[in-house]
Amino acid sequence: MPVITTIEDLRVLHKKRVPRMFYDYCDSGSWTESTYRANEADFEKIKFRQRVAVNMENRTTRVRMAGQEAAIPVAIAPTGLTGMQHADGEILAARAAKKFGIPFTLSTMSICSIEDVAKATDNHPFWFQLYVMRDRAFIERLIDRARAANCSALVLTLDLQMIGQRHKDIVNGLSAPPRMTLKNVLNMMSKPAWSLEMLRTPRRNFGNIFGHVKGIENMGSLSEWTAKQFDPALSWKDIEWIKSRWGGKLILKGVQDVEDARIAADTGADALIVSNHGGRQLDGAPSSISALPAIVDAVGSRMEVHMDGGIRSGQSVLKAWALGARGTYIGRSMLYGLGAMGEQGVTKALEIIQKELDLTMAFCGHTDINKVDKGILLPGTY
Ligand code: GLV
Repeated sequence: MPVITTIEDLRVLHKKRVPRMFYDYCDSGSWTESTYRANEADFEKIKFRQRVAVNMENRTTRVRMAGQEAAIPVAIAPTGLTGMQHADGEILAARAAKKFGIPFTLSTMSICSIEDVAKATDNHPFWFQLYVMRDRAFIERLIDRARAANCSALVLTLDLQMIGQRHKDIVNGLSAPPRMTLKNVLNMMSKPAWSLEMLRTPRRNFGNIFGHVKGIENMGSLSEWTAKQFDPALSWKDIEWIKSRWGGKLILKGVQDVEDARIAADTGADALIVSNHGGRQLDGAPSSISALPAIVDAVGSRMEVHMDGGIRSGQSVLKAWALGARGTYIGRSMLYGLGAMGEQGVTKALEIIQKELDLTMAFCGHTDINKVDKGILLPGTY
């Protein structure tokens, strides 16, 4: 087993162990991938101020995100097809998150269902991410299922009424489960551990949807299915019925623009997530970390502002926190760990991030993350 010290180490292992189409699905952005790259690159430009001779004993990184205690200001982001990166992927990631003490968010487009995850985590509360589809009766049932499963926040995605074009998914013929073409079979045979685990589990379809929507036997490619089922007419006024049907904590995901952030605050939602969907939707949009400060200024006093996009280290978590994000989400960093080593890999990713966060905070002269603000960053670099 190679020595793992960074999220990048996990990415390399993930790429080696998981069939090409699923690794590519995770590790790609839309069109030229410029926004995908900027999400990470823009973090690099922000510099810390090192402080010395400060008592660094008794440090804490513990915070609250949307009212929930978190060991670090990091939640697991909702990612589609997670159970294709590793058999029962969502269950494994949810268990790792529970043990670590951070929120786990399940995607509507997960392989393991809401009920599977609830059962496997002994009804420990998790967050459920909602995509709004044309079939509103199905959406109402989904919301009810999330409530019945003890979900403690609903994360409503606003930036994927249509799916951005990721070239590799088209080339690879992405589907879940993979079609048994010669190319796919040969590729899966070169990933024996993945294949054996996948044969062992019964969960190889979209668990929240199969058996819950009439007439859906074959979803074909994800993009075709999305184009048919996702509701392109979703608008701000729909938030009201979703909010009242749900009745609990509501987090709005996918806000990039200050004007939209103001409208989001007017809905009375508890939090918003500054996000460009990991650079997978509008290529050419600004990075999340560059969009964050103006949104915090505009609505940070009215609702919690969270962010995702480009977090590959605890240093990025701390930069986002210093700029006002009251929580961050990891999608790919979690998937790299999952694809590399299952539940243990997700735990490893969280440990790496926690250690980097804790050490960096100490080098910047702080012992309690709740007291950290912009003052730890070098002016002119953010
Ligand atoms: C779905 O959320 C995707 O980005 O593929």
